[in-house]
Amino acid sequence: MDSARWWRDAVIYEVYVRSFADDTGDGTGDLPGVTQRLPYLRDLGVDAIWLTPFYRSPMIDGGYDVTDHRDVDPLFGTLADFDAMRSRAHELGLRVIVDLVPNHSSAEHPWFREALAAPPGSPARERYVFRPGQGPNHELPPNDWESVFGGGAWVRVPDGDWYLHLFDASQPDFNWQHPEVQAEFESILRYWLDRGVDGFRVDVAHGLVKAEGLPDVGRPDQMQERSRAVLPYWDQDGIHEIYRSWRAILDSYPGDRMAVAEAWVSPPERLSRYVAADEMHQAFNFDFLTAPWSAEAYREVIDACLTASEKAGATTTWVLSNHDVRRHTTRLGSLARARAATLMMLALPGSAYLYQGEELGLPEVLDLPDGLRQDPEFIRSGGEMLGRDGCRIPLPWSGTAPPFGFTTAPAAWLPAPPAWELLTVEAQEADPTSTLSFYRRALALRRDRAGGALAWHDAPPDVLHFTGRGGLRCVVNLGHTPVPLPQGYPDPLLSSAPLVGGTLSPDTAAWF
Ligand code: GLC
Repeated sequence: MDSARWWRDAVIYEVYVRSFADDTGDGTGDLPGVTQRLPYLRDLGVDAIWLTPFYRSPMIDGGYDVTDHRDVDPLFGTLADFDAMRSRAHELGLRVIVDLVPNHSSAEHPWFREALAAPPGSPARERYVFRPGQGPNHELPPNDWESVFGGGAWVRVPDGDWYLHLFDASQPDFNWQHPEVQAEFESILRYWLDRGVDGFRVDVAHGLVKAEGLPDVGRPDQMQERSRAVLPYWDQDGIHEIYRSWRAILDSYPGDRMAVAEAWVSPPERLSRYVAADEMHQAFNFDFLTAPWSAEAYREVIDACLTASEKAGATTTWVLSNHDVRRHTTRLGSLARARAATLMMLALPGSAYLYQGEELGLPEVLDLPDGLRQDPEFIRSGGEMLGRDGCRIPLPWSGTAPPFGFTTAPAAWLPAPPAWELLTVEAQEADPTSTLSFYRRALALRRDRAGGALAWHDAPPDVLHFTGRGGLRCVVNLGHTPVPLPQGYPDPLLSSAPLVGGTLSPDTAAWF
């Protein structure tokens, strides 16, 4: 636990708290459930955990709608449960990162209630983004911005004023020009730092500052451009001042505290601004999430991300799955590809973020009945967007029928498919060829091999061949035909699928 700048090559495991493990038996995961299962994460071989929001919340967006940033929602436990979890994690050598949600609050946050109770133009409204509407009777929204979850980004309140919400209508955006908003979040940072957290995952880090005058975008379907576009509500230059002030706070604490930005920004040079020496320590690289399964595309992503982070003097991060996107087993088309991609990712320099359940090879659950879906993305888009419930199914721990040891309640908040009987932790622990055994082995081998830069080697067109972290040599076959193994490396340390007759099958990766 004492290595300096530990995050630079850490493996960080995302715990989606409500779907990880339920201790209280109400069908929803909670902090005591996390505490109980920490030894599982230590044995898996990760360095740190990132917990999704467990703060007080009406849970309309799974806790990303916060009413009290300094307290635990009763659904997840108490502050004492948090302290117990954190101290057990530290005992086991695991760092703890918590989620910080600064772009918006819940509509039930006391500040927003105060704002609604106050008349238009009053100071209480200035902590959020209230504006009069357009049109003769102000009946049209102040501009043409769209919500990430579908539909317009403005709601009209009974007295005629409109407020901005880039996400659900229940998530009003803060006004980050307001000194009280700034001071409040500095205080929240200190609050959790004082409680011993090792860092923060900063939600929607590219959204806090909006362009002066809130100009129209001038085109519909803005959200289709979500990760690419230069839009007046994303990635504004003024944002960096906020992160500089946070960095000073983080640096004033002992023990290497860090922050990682969730910023859907591109190209990588724009993203690298978030990791300047006086800002955050890391930013998620989401480029694998949109890359097709091809050697060319993957190599391009790897090169671009490494170059950009190197320029910024930071190390890069890699992500194949998280609670907002289709699980990579399903996205890439097969478990074989998912395992190959994972082996490739873990051989790269930098740090890797894993999402709970990927170590079990869980697929996305696509056929949830509509009536069970809870994601505001699904609800706001009238079902046009399937939403993210399918990657948030509670983990299958043990047994032969749902809810697979996740809870003692008869059912979990979302049902797991009966076929997950074969994917439980219990089933996979007993099987040396399982995905879980594969992840454990990969993480153990990776742990022993630190440092090092990336060097590419010649390879056939559909193959990637590189020396990565700690001298690990990695070969990945993204093509359709088997390829011979590189000469002089007959016995792999590990492969994502069995090697047959000295060749690497399609959709397979190996370490030498
Ligand atoms: C981030 C979170 C996502 C949430 C959104 C609004 O993208 O990862 O789950 O819905 O922010 O807070």
